[in-house]
Amino acid sequence: MFSSNILGVAIVLLVLMFKLLPAVSGQPGQPQTCPAASEINPCACQVKKNGLDILCEATDISHINKAMGTLKGKSPIIFYLKLRHNNLPKLQGFVFLALDIRHLTIHNSSLAAIEETALSSLGKGLTQLDVSQNQLSNVPSNAVKNLHHLLILNLNHNKISQIHNRAFEGLDTLEILTMYENKITSIEPEAFRGLDKKLKRLNLGGNELTTVPQKSLSILDTLKKLEIQENKIKKIKDGDFEGLRNLDSLILAHNQLTEVPANVFRHLTLLNSLELEGNSISYVDKDAFAGLEENLQYLRLGDNNLHIIASEALRPLHRLRHLDLRSNNITVISEDAFVGFGDSITFLNLQKNDIKVLPAMAFENLNSLETLSIQNNKLTRIPEEVMEPIMDTLRVVDINDNPLICSCELIWFPNLLQDLKNRDDEMTQKKRPMCTMPNENREYYVQSMPLERMNCIRKSIGQTGMNPFSGSANLLINVAFIVATGFFDVAWYLTHCTIF
Ligand SMILES: *[C@@H]1O[C@H](CO)[C@@H](O)[C@H](O)[C@H]1NC(C)=O
Ligand SMILES: *[C@@H]1O[C@H](CO)[C@@H](O)[C@H](O)[C@H]1NC(C)=O
Repeated sequence: MFSSNILGVAIVLLVLMFKLLPAVSGQPGQPQTCPAASEINPCACQVKKNGLDILCEATDISHINKAMGTLKGKSPIIFYLKLRHNNLPKLQGFVFLALDIRHLTIHNSSLAAIEETALSSLGKGLTQLDVSQNQLSNVPSNAVKNLHHLLILNLNHNKISQIHNRAFEGLDTLEILTMYENKITSIEPEAFRGLDKKLKRLNLGGNELTTVPQKSLSILDTLKKLEIQENKIKKIKDGDFEGLRNLDSLILAHNQLTEVPANVFRHLTLLNSLELEGNSISYVDKDAFAGLEENLQYLRLGDNNLHIIASEALRPLHRLRHLDLRSNNITVISEDAFVGFGDSITFLNLQKNDIKVLPAMAFENLNSLETLSIQNNKLTRIPEEVMEPIMDTLRVVDINDNPLICSCELIWFPNLLQDLKNRDDEMTQKKRPMCTMPNENREYYVQSMPLERMNCIRKSIGQTGMNPFSGSANLLINVAFIVATGFFDVAWYLTHCTIF
C-alpha cells in the first residue's frame, strides 16, 4: 500500500512536470526552442546559450507582427531580436507586448517614430536598445522612459538635431549612450538629467556642436569616457569640463581647435587619455595640461599645426607614456625637448614632420622608450650618439622616408636590427629605410650599406662607427684603428693557435 502510494505521487509529479514544461520554458537555465521556420518566416531563429536569437531582414511590419504573434504563444526568452533593413517608419504601440526581449535592434529600417507604448512592456528585461541608422529626428523620450533596466542606448546615425531637457529621464541604469553621426547643434542644459548616477560612456561624435555643451555635461559625475570628436568645436576654455571628475578618456579629435589654453582640463584630475589629433592646433599654453599631472598617460596631438614640441606644457606630465605628434610642422627638436617628462615615455611618434636635425642630446631623457617613429622627416643624419641613450630599451624604430646619407654613423641601425633579432623581438619594420651614397648617387638599404668600401670600424671590435666622409683626420684615425686591430688580431692568433 505504502509503496504504491509513493509510486502514485511520483507519477502525478512526473505528469505535472511534463505538463508544466512548456510553460516554464521561458525561465533562465531552461533550454529554449525555436518555432518552426514556417511560423516566423521571413524571420530566422537560432538557439543561443541565453535565449533565442531572432533576425528579421528586408521585410515589413505585417510580417514582423505575425512572427511576434507566434513567439508570444511560446513565451521564450528572446535574447536578441534584430530587425534590420526593413521598412518600419513607425513602431506601433504594444508590438512587443508579452515578449521578453533582452537586446533589441531596429537598424536601417527608416524608423522615424516610436509610439509611446511600443517599448514600455519591455521595461523589466530590456538591457540594450539599438535604433541606429534610422530617421529619428528627436530622442524618443516617451518611448524609452520606462526602460528601467536599460544599460546601452544606441541612437547612432539618425537625424537628431537637438537634445531637449530631460530627454533621457527614467533611464537611471543607463551606462552607455551613443549618438554618433546625428545632426546635433544644441544640447539643452538639463538634457542629461537622470543619467547622473550610472552613465559611463557618452558618444556625441560626428555632430555639429560648435562649443562643448558644458552645462549639460557638468552633472555627469560618473562619466569615464566622453567622445566629442568630429564636431565643429572652435574653442575650449577653462571650466568646459567642470564636473566630470571621474573622466578617464576625452576625445576631442577632428574639431577646429586652434589652441589649447591654460587650465582647460584642470578639473579632469583622473584623466588617463586625451585625444586632440586632427585639429588646427598651433598653440599650446604652458599651463594647458595643468591638473593632468598625476594620471595622464596617453596624449595624441597628431595632425595639427604645431611647430615645436610643446615641452613646457608637457613637462609636468610625469606619467606620460604615449606621445603622438605625427603630421605636424615640427622642424626643430631642441636639446631639452624631453627634459623632465621623457623618463616615462615608451611610445614617441614624430613621423611626418619637417625635422631636419636631431641634436646630440635630443633623446637623452627618454629612458623608457620602446617605440620611436621618425619616418617621413627631412633627416639626412641620425648619428649614433643621438640613438645611444635609447638603444637599450628600443624595440621598434622606424626611420623610413628620410633623405639619409649613407655613412658609418648609421651603423647603429643594422646593429640594432641584429640585436633585436637576437633578443627575439619583433621589429615591426615593414619597409626598409634607404640611404644615398655620396659621390655614387646611388641608394642602398641602410641595413646593407657596403661597409667594407666605406671603411667603417665595426662595433663588434668595440668602436663606434665613424664617418669616413667627414675629413682626412678621421680617415687617418680609421686607418690607424684598422692597423691596430689587425695587429691585435695577429697577436691573438699567435697566442691562441699552434704554429707549425
Ligand atoms: C538599408 O536597407 C535598405 C533596404 O531597406 C538596403 O537597400 C540598404 O542597402 C541598407 N543599407 C545599409 C547601409 O545596409
Ligand atoms: C609649416 O611652417 C612653415 C613656417 O615655419 C610655414 O611656412 C608652412 O606653411 C607650415 N606648413 C603647414 C602645413 O602648416
